[in-house]
Amino acid sequence: MNQPETLATLAASVGAPSYVHHARLLGWVREIAALTQPERIVWCDGSEAESERLCALMVASGTLTKLSESKRPGSYLALSDPSDVARVEDRTFICSKCEDDAGPTNNWVAPSAMRRTLDGLFTGSMRGRTMYVVPFAMGPIGSPIAHIGIEISDSPYVVVNMRLMTRMGRAVYDALGSDGAFVPCVHSVGAPLVDGQRDVAWPSNAEQKYIVHFPETREIWSYGSGYGGNALLGKKCFALRIASVMGRDQGWLAEHMLILGVTSPQGEKSYVAGAFPSACGKTNLSMLIPPPGCEGWKVTTIGDDIAWIKPGTDGYLHAINPEAGYFGVAPGTSYETNANAMEMLKHDVIFTNVALTDDGDVWWEGMTHEPPAHLVDWQGQDWTPGCGRKAAHPNARFTVSSRQCPSLDPAWDDPAGVPISAFVFGARRSDTVPLVSEARTWEEGVYKAATMGSETTAAATGAVGEVRRDPFAMLPFCGYHVGDYFRHWLAMGKAVAHPPRLFSVNWFRKDAKGRFVWPGFGENMRVLQWIVERCRGRAQAGETAVGLAPAYADLDWTGADFDADRFAAVMNVDRASWERELALHDELFAKIGAKLPPELKIEREALGQRLQR
Ligand code: GTP
Ligand code: SPV
Ligand code: MN
Repeated sequence: MNQPETLATLAASVGAPSYVHHARLLGWVREIAALTQPERIVWCDGSEAESERLCALMVASGTLTKLSESKRPGSYLALSDPSDVARVEDRTFICSKCEDDAGPTNNWVAPSAMRRTLDGLFTGSMRGRTMYVVPFAMGPIGSPIAHIGIEISDSPYVVVNMRLMTRMGRAVYDALGSDGAFVPCVHSVGAPLVDGQRDVAWPSNAEQKYIVHFPETREIWSYGSGYGGNALLGKKCFALRIASVMGRDQGWLAEHMLILGVTSPQGEKSYVAGAFPSACGKTNLSMLIPPPGCEGWKVTTIGDDIAWIKPGTDGYLHAINPEAGYFGVAPGTSYETNANAMEMLKHDVIFTNVALTDDGDVWWEGMTHEPPAHLVDWQGQDWTPGCGRKAAHPNARFTVSSRQCPSLDPAWDDPAGVPISAFVFGARRSDTVPLVSEARTWEEGVYKAATMGSETTAAATGAVGEVRRDPFAMLPFCGYHVGDYFRHWLAMGKAVAHPPRLFSVNWFRKDAKGRFVWPGFGENMRVLQWIVERCRGRAQAGETAVGLAPAYADLDWTGADFDADRFAAVMNVDRASWERELALHDELFAKIGAKLPPELKIEREALGQRLQR
């Protein structure tokens, strides 16, 4: 066979640009085009001009509204279909060859059966639409830790979001060369335009949604949704579900974690990574501004959602943020709660499902104390204060490049990653779990993270506010058996000479009237300060049934208005609550069955005994 000629013919058949030399990639694009039957194929180069062209196209089609160029330059608002507003966990599948490899926390369908289903769904699914080929890297392009994906999508909204969220564009093809590895990601909104049918502003499929992963072949197929993690396939699908499987096989971790730097008044720098479930404060913590009294301290941002963590030659675990942007929760974001985010959102942002002001700007619940007198809400309806509806959807989001973050850490893009001193596991719990505690051992910390419970949020469809077990904040994101995942975590603690210390935090305890007791946000600095001082062997802690904990005097309260009684209220370990909590741990462990590591059973017994004392 004449190789160059084959390649040229292949490239021509799919209209590929001359800089794409990858035969397998070209063949795959041709195959997906034959299946989905788009009207045309567009190869994205990641340029600003391309993004501007697509945004203009979406303004014309009604998908985007251009915001006021004076109020919010370079920014747009998208309003989704009301049936497509969040991740769909019940429609998310891990299709490993063996059901047992998906485990009890994932939906499983046999690969062959799922392939038949997908074949049916994707046949003609892009008719009347443009198919975009989106090359992206998770991690710095060309770095040995980065992984490449190619997303095929029929949504221009996905393209412009991927450009902000990942290193997207032409340079990816240079890194790929003629036979580099990539994760193929196929996405369709599942709304073909046939017989001259007119498009809608937010095409999606209200009846059928499938978010599918094939862990062995490292493939992603997503159908029917255009929203967030369902559609921006580099994020949850690749960087968490597929990457967690890669990490299990190759000796590293892909986690639902923020990464931040903390600099002390003496100039010592530590890095902390924190796992919190969706909409439980990762973005806020990663951009924390120290409160009055803690001025000498500084927090810098590496990432707000995902960490890839690998053993370094220096004996530390090193973390990188595989993303290049933030897809953050808008409601609750204000100059009081996250001033860095407010500054970073001043220009070149895509907002989704927030409200539109009369002067062409955006608003959401919590942005200001006084809501504007009139808005157009996220469903496109007139809104006035007191009308009884939320102006922004609770899972409304902003998409923005991390380069706009004022607290961005200079090492955010370092291919070597940053050495991690502490892992923090945070739940959203109105009771039971204290403000902060430290695990005495790696095993105890893994137990605490594994049994973490948290109240559900609007980040996924379904009930909100129900406590469920969310091990390591990875319940919806672990691409394999959760028992094997716990075993992998236990092993990772032994894989390095200097494993991070493990902490549990809870910013969300409430009083009898349902008000948060802990002020949170900037005030979390006081807890963070104790955590990094513990890692340096300086701060004090005492024994409790659920771990090592600070006394009131062990935290720095300079400039704070928080007395010892309130501290006792957020630190209290109530025996009756913990007995109920243990029953829920047992329920989780029973569900995991034979793959539950024996170390965790030992931890369970020890915790039970300590609570008896
Ligand atoms: P995903 O992007 O969904 O993974 O979530 P995230 O963890 O990054 O969520 P984010 O930081 O955007 O959390 C948003 C919600 O947490 C908002 O409702 C905030 O008001 C709330 N929140 C964040 N930090 C605190 C805190 O310290 N105290 C309290 N009470 N609420 C907080
Ligand atoms: C989450 O739900 O944890 C998110 C938002 O970070 S999404 O990308 O939509 O999954
Ligand atoms: Mn997340």
